[in-house]
Amino acid sequence: MLTQQHPPLLPLLLLLHLLLVPPVADASVLRYADQSQPKTPIVLIPGDGGSQIQARLDGKPSVPHFWCSKRTADFYPIWLNLELLNAGTVDCLVDDFRLVFDPATNLTSNSPKVVTRVPGFGDTATVEYFDDSKISASAYFNDLAIKLVAYGYRRNVTLRGAPFDFRRGVHDNPQFQSDLKSLIEATTAANAGRPCLLVAHSYGNTVTLAMLQQQTPDWKRRHVRALLAVAAPLGGAVKALRLMSSGDSLDIPLERPLAMRPLQRSLTSTALLMPHPQFWPAGETLISRPGRNYSTAEYDQFFVDIGYQLGSRMRAAAVAGYRPDLPPGVEVHCVYGYGLKTPGRLIWRSNADWPDAQPDVDWDDGDGTVNSRSLAACADLWGGGAQAQPVFNFTIPGAEHLKILHRPEFLQYTLDLVHRLNAETAHPDAL
Ligand SMILES: *[C@@H]1O[C@H](CO)[C@@H](O)[C@H](O)[C@H]1NC(C)=O
Ligand SMILES: *[C@@H]1O[C@H](CO)[C@@H](O)[C@H](O)[C@H]1NC(C)=O
Ligand SMILES: *[C@@H]1O[C@H](CO)[C@@H](O)[C@H](O)[C@H]1NC(C)=O
Ligand SMILES: *[C@@H]1O[C@H](CO)[C@@H](O)[C@H](O)[C@H]1NC(C)=O
Repeated sequence: MLTQQHPPLLPLLLLLHLLLVPPVADASVLRYADQSQPKTPIVLIPGDGGSQIQARLDGKPSVPHFWCSKRTADFYPIWLNLELLNAGTVDCLVDDFRLVFDPATNLTSNSPKVVTRVPGFGDTATVEYFDDSKISASAYFNDLAIKLVAYGYRRNVTLRGAPFDFRRGVHDNPQFQSDLKSLIEATTAANAGRPCLLVAHSYGNTVTLAMLQQQTPDWKRRHVRALLAVAAPLGGAVKALRLMSSGDSLDIPLERPLAMRPLQRSLTSTALLMPHPQFWPAGETLISRPGRNYSTAEYDQFFVDIGYQLGSRMRAAAVAGYRPDLPPGVEVHCVYGYGLKTPGRLIWRSNADWPDAQPDVDWDDGDGTVNSRSLAACADLWGGGAQAQPVFNFTIPGAEHLKILHRPEFLQYTLDLVHRLNAETAHPDAL
């Protein structure tokens, strides 16, 4: 059973690796505390792996082992549920949680006879923790929520959350695009028409950018005061290639990282997060094995050679509308860490190990999960006059992809920003 004695492990954002969360140093919120109501509402948008998801099994036609359930009476937490990552049940989890891509529509559906839902949309409860045990080791947006509440924010009123099915690429989840827009509209309306501050982490930025790109300048001016883009993987991450090829261990002592692969490679979000050719040009080797190198120009061959040709179709569908170079058209605060060893190139020394064994890694700079060039794109592509609205660049040396949300520098930066926005008498553009 997953209990309080479970090692303090946490899932991660590029789908699934687990990290220890350090104790949080206290950012000095109290100096902001005043009795007046905050004016700028906030919406939190989580990253890959950062939303709780529930499943119900309605009589699965097949299961990988006789001990895997085919039917459940009710919904149960499927993500994050460390209990299900045990050696005995990981195959059941993988088969219950994987997606099935249909090349005729470019869309995915759940594994047959599996129903999923994302609980708590609008509220923050399911994005404050990765799982519902509320052990501190699974804290996600919780430290930030606590600081904001101490400042005067109220959960589900001035502080909202937008959990979503992170398994899906943007094109594969139009419902969330419209739900996110509606949540922002409702939150603005419920707060005297004040536009929202969006705080997105990791893959949450990818889906938020896509939503903003679809809105008119007038809609954005009226509903979004600013986007705080934390660890945005705008160019993707080399790590996604490991999810596709060998499977990734989630940094927990999984006996078989390979067991996760059928799940990880079935996700249109994984396809979308593969290194983007705009950031990794043709000819720059990302994957090596004896006699063969692959760059972003050889993805189709890569998918053939790992025996997953469907991946080419998934990738093409996922990136077709993806335009990282098109700025969001709202004020942006780019916040990310750097200076940590991050996968830069995956190397299989023997073709006998390819692609099922874990590769060797050549390291790149980044936040441990996402490469620097991808993280830096937020300010590089959108700043420097690319959009009329200001773009700020705030980097934190040594801040890891997930732990950045618990770093005092991040919490302080966010509180300073929030304090400034709340002091405004009106949206600057509306003056
Ligand atoms: C959050 O607010 C919404 C809309 O006001 C409401 O429908 C919902 O019940 C609230 N959720 C919780 C957990 O209070
Ligand atoms: C693959 O790339 C490596 C490093 O750039 C190079 O040494 C090797 O010769 C290349 N192999 C092939 C088959 O192109
Ligand atoms: C699926 O995506 C590919 C790549 O963008 C596109 O060429 C094709 O027309 C799409 N198919 C459908 C049914 O949308
Ligand atoms: C943002 O800050 C980082 C770290 O100081 C720096 O390397 C990068 O060039 C900056 N980006 C822009 C667009 O100024």
